[in-house]
Amino acid sequence: MPKFFVDPHIIFVVLDRYYNFMSKQKTNEFRSPRGTHDILPEEERLWDKIRQEAKEISGFYGFGRIDTPHFEHTELFTLGTGSVTDIVTKQMYSFRTRGGDQLTLRPEGTPPIMRAFFEHGMFNLPQPVKLYYIGQFFRHESPQRGRFREFNQWGLELIGEDSPVADAQVIQIFFVFLREVGVKNAILEVNSTGCQICRPRYRSELVAYYRPRLKGLCKDCKDRSRQNPLRLLDCKEEKCQIVRRGAPETLDHLCDNCKNHLKLLLEFLDEVSIPYLLNPYLVRGLDYYTRTVFEIFVGEEEKEKPKEVSVDSQKRGEENPVKEENEAPPESLTSKRLALGGGGRYDNLAEILGGKTVPAVGGALGIERIILALKAQGYKVSEPAKPKTFFVQLGELARKKSLPLIEELRKARVSVAESLGRDSIKSQLNIADKVGAEYALILGQKEALDGTIILREMSSGIQEAVPQEKFIDFLKKKLKK
Ligand code: HAM
Repeated sequence: MPKFFVDPHIIFVVLDRYYNFMSKQKTNEFRSPRGTHDILPEEERLWDKIRQEAKEISGFYGFGRIDTPHFEHTELFTLGTGSVTDIVTKQMYSFRTRGGDQLTLRPEGTPPIMRAFFEHGMFNLPQPVKLYYIGQFFRHESPQRGRFREFNQWGLELIGEDSPVADAQVIQIFFVFLREVGVKNAILEVNSTGCQICRPRYRSELVAYYRPRLKGLCKDCKDRSRQNPLRLLDCKEEKCQIVRRGAPETLDHLCDNCKNHLKLLLEFLDEVSIPYLLNPYLVRGLDYYTRTVFEIFVGEEEKEKPKEVSVDSQKRGEENPVKEENEAPPESLTSKRLALGGGGRYDNLAEILGGKTVPAVGGALGIERIILALKAQGYKVSEPAKPKTFFVQLGELARKKSLPLIEELRKARVSVAESLGRDSIKSQLNIADKVGAEYALILGQKEALDGTIILREMSSGIQEAVPQEKFIDFLKKKLKK
């Protein structure tokens, strides 16, 4: 029997085109492009809360907001993110402009921040420079639960500090933030991927381990074994995870400086009571990481809870227990859990992009995923605040006068709802009732002419006419009671 191999990428492209074709056939309507989503007003309340809390905690820890463009020169990512990463080889939205520039919608925030750091001479500022960002990123991925083609991240970048206390602070901020917005049972995994001194040795051992086992790996991993062997540890394919079980671990190959960095990081985390799992196979999919890498997950269901890696025995670079050949892989790398965020140290990125040695550490949380986790855990979005008042108008003159009066209410910060297109008093009072307003402010033809307005207490139906120039003070007193 002849064996055919179809590149998964081709299957993906065909299915994608089929999906787009079918969605147009079925509806004959425009829909948001695949992998994108609208955020509707009721959802925005939760988004606002998350963005607000992210801004507050970033500000408290001294991070200043930075916004970089949504597109950059493609080379920034091929050099910065890494030319053999999935992001660069498969997921970038790149295009050539009429002027001939080769640009890319930003798939991640770290290289742009480092570009801005050099472009604006931030290396002349007192170090470290702490920056945060909240915004959209773009990756041409196969959409699924929690995975979009346009998604939002909140990121922190701490540039110009090599102490592990900086790594700990970034992790602490993300962890505390998640707890405070209401995410339960977040799991932090940490590893060290070594440095330029100890990583090459580890790499060779890894390659030597995988060389006789290549047959059992997926196509991507066969490519990775040549281009980027560390990423072999990151593969989600079951057959590759089975091979990985006996692979050498980064922790056994760290040089003394990297070991010490990790040891101190874990001590700092202990100090702020942040629980962690040391996952010796955590490498992450971006090329720029050195030493620390971390990821924060939530389990989706009880049965999908991660298997605990023994922290006591593996902690602080101490000797790891001998691994059984058949021992199950740490589930951190299985697809059943949701990665809310991740990051690490990237001490070489500045050299690549700016020609200077500047140590740095950072990370990012995915906002869609935080929201998904909150909802899956039963988080209820708060109801919008009820308007204190409802403006009722009757007749053309009253309708005209209603606009400046409503503006007076805004200036006085008294909340008001209205339905200015309606004519009937009954339907307007019905709405006032439905939205839960305490007072209806009624302006009819007579009141518009004599300069008064009627205040109707909705609960009792008691009404009184008040001069328009005094109605705000009068109303405020009533609302205070
Ligand atoms: P990343 O792991 O690629 O890291 O992304 C961070 C987080 O963004 C992920 O854990 C996930 O929550 C969210 N995310 C990523 N891709 C998607 C997607 N397609 N749909 C929805 N959410 C997604 C970075 O981006 C690094 N720049 C983080 C970093 C900053 N490292 C150092 N500094």
